[in-house]
Amino acid sequence: MELLWVALSGLWLMLPSLLPNSAAVIFGGGTPVDLGRSWRGKRIFGDGKTWTGLIGGISAGVSLGVILLFIAYPFDPTNFWGFGNCPDNVMIVSVLSIGSLLGDLGGSFVKRRLGIERGGKTPILDQYNFALGSIVFALIAFPNWFIANFIEGEHVLALVVFLVAVPILHRAVNVIGYKTGKKNVPW
Ligand code: CTP
Ligand code: MG
Repeated sequence: MELLWVALSGLWLMLPSLLPNSAAVIFGGGTPVDLGRSWRGKRIFGDGKTWTGLIGGISAGVSLGVILLFIAYPFDPTNFWGFGNCPDNVMIVSVLSIGSLLGDLGGSFVKRRLGIERGGKTPILDQYNFALGSIVFALIAFPNWFIANFIEGEHVLALVVFLVAVPILHRAVNVIGYKTGKKNVPW
């Protein structure tokens, strides 16, 4: 039972990383982050990365994170169910959300450098760019928190469950985005 909770904690703790990507699809559509500019003949990020998507997505992730903290606080006032104590826990959900969409932005930067057009399929990079962004940012800003919750001992299960869930959730959300006309392609 204990192990099951450790495994599921990976999804709970990474919710502020998971939401921004889907929220960006809903908030997107405005001015591109690169303002239409190119670098060495190719767009820096492309039309799929917009300011409204970036800011809306990050705000959604941070808001969700704060809601999770409010839910956990009455049960666990010293460790808010794994996010730690205030104000670190607010910083952690923010770092996860910001890292998520900067990872997504970085992924598009790499795709454009490889000559892949906006929306072009790029296996692994498309699914994991945001997860990688959150992990790298969390490791830089809160290394002890990340190691304790995703690396040390049985907690590596949390990382495995998260990494297995990412492409499944990504696919599900993109199919919904495609069917509702929010995305041009179902990936
Ligand atoms: N989106 C946005 N701003 C962001 C991220 C996403 O507006 N910072 C919106 C865009 O409408 C984008 C959609 O969410 O088309 C889906 O995101 P994603 O699949 O990451 O973008 P792609 O259009 O596939 O572009 P790329 O090839 O650069 O990944
Ligand atoms: Mg895409």
